[in-house]
Amino acid sequence: MELQVADRMKNYEEGIFQILNEKKDEVEKQGRKVYNLSVGTPDFKPAPHIMKAVIEAASKPENYKYALKDLPELIQAVIARYKKRYGVELEEKEITSVYGSQEGITHIGLSLCNPGDIVLVPDPGYPIFAIGPSLAQARIVTYPLTEENHYLPDLKAISKETCQKAKFMIVSYPMNPVCKIAPDSFYEELIPWAKENNIIIVHDNAYSDIIFDGHTGKSILFFEGAKETCVEFYSLSKSYNYTGARMGFLVGNEYLVQNFKKLRSQIDYGTFLPVQYGAVAALLGPDDSVKEQCKEYQRRRDALCGGLREIGWNIPDSEGSMFAWGKIPEGYTDDVAFVMELLEKSGVLCTPGSSFGNLGKGHVRFALTLPEEQIKEAVTAIRDSGICKKN
Ligand SMILES: Cc1ncc(COP(=O)(O)O)c(C=O)c1O
Repeated sequence: MELQVADRMKNYEEGIFQILNEKKDEVEKQGRKVYNLSVGTPDFKPAPHIMKAVIEAASKPENYKYALKDLPELIQAVIARYKKRYGVELEEKEITSVYGSQEGITHIGLSLCNPGDIVLVPDPGYPIFAIGPSLAQARIVTYPLTEENHYLPDLKAISKETCQKAKFMIVSYPMNPVCKIAPDSFYEELIPWAKENNIIIVHDNAYSDIIFDGHTGKSILFFEGAKETCVEFYSLSKSYNYTGARMGFLVGNEYLVQNFKKLRSQIDYGTFLPVQYGAVAALLGPDDSVKEQCKEYQRRRDALCGGLREIGWNIPDSEGSMFAWGKIPEGYTDDVAFVMELLEKSGVLCTPGSSFGNLGKGHVRFALTLPEEQIKEAVTAIRDSGICKKN
C-alpha cells in the first residue's frame, strides 16, 4: 500500500535545524564545549510566586477536568495587566486565551481568510507569520524590512491592488529576528492606513518587556483607533518565562476576538487550570523580576554585540527582543555554510538568517540565552577561531 499524505507536508521538512542539531551533537561528542545561541528559549526561571500558584493548583484533583473556558479571574488579570502596563482599557469580550501566541498565529488565518486572500507578512520575519495563514490557503505577500527603511514596512510601496486583496497584515515590534523597535509615529501611520484600506492588523507583542536603552514597549491598542482594526497577541512566555506552560492571549477588536474564539472552541477544551492559575499570579504579581531580567538581557546584548564589534564583526546593538542580528563577516556569502563553519571552528551555534526569509540571507541571529560570562566566553571562542578574518 502506498500511504498518501498532503502535499503541503513537503513544506515542513526540518531541513537546516535538523542538520545543525546533528552537527552540534557531533561537536559535543568530540568533548568540545558548544555555546548554543540558536534557540529562543529563555534560560531564566519563572518567579517563585508563579510556580507556587501552579503547584498549589496542581495539587487539587478538581483542577484536572477540562477547563472549557478562561477563568473569570484570568480575564480580569489580563484587564488589570493591560491597564497597569500599557494604559489600555480592555473589556472582557476583547480577550481570549491562546495556547501560546505560536498557536494563536497558526490559527488566526483560519478565522480571517478565505482561500486566495492576501496576508502581508514581514521578510525577514518569524516563520509562523507565513506558515499560519498559508494553512488557511491564504496568499502570502511579503513586505521587505530593510536598513534603508529602518526595518519598518514602507506602506506607500504596497500597491493598491495588493491592499484591495489583503485581509490582514502581521506586524511585530520589538522584532524577531531583526531586533528593532518601532517609533510611535509608525503606529500612528499604520492604523489610519489599515482603516482606509480595510486591512486588519495583527500585532505580535511577544517582546514588549525586553526592550533596551530606556525605551518602553507598548501595546498597539494604546494608539488611537486601534481597536477598530487591530488585534494583538500577548504572551507570557518571554516576560515571565512561562514558556513551556503555553499561555498567551488575543486581545483587541471584540468582533475579531469573538470570531477567533469561536474557531478555537472547535479545536480545544481550554487550558489546564493550574496553568491558568499560574498565569493569574504572573499577571497580577510584581514586576521587579521582569524589569531585572530586561536589564540582564541588555548586559548580555552588550557583551555579545559590543564584544563582537571589538573583534571586528560589526553586529549592531539590538534595540529589543532576546536576540541579536547582523550580517555575516566580510568574505562570506552563504549564511548556512557560515553557521556550520562557525560551529565547527568556535563551538558557537547561531541561526542562519535565511531561515527567516529571503532578505535574511547573508545574516545570522544569536539568541541571548546564556549568562553574560558565557556569552563573553563565546565571543572569545569566535575571536580565537579567526573566523572573522577571512579574505
Ligand atoms: C516573534 C515571536 N512570536 C511568537 C513566539 C511564540 O511565543 P509563544 O511561546 O507565546 O508561543 C515567539 C517565540 O519565540 C516569537 O519570537
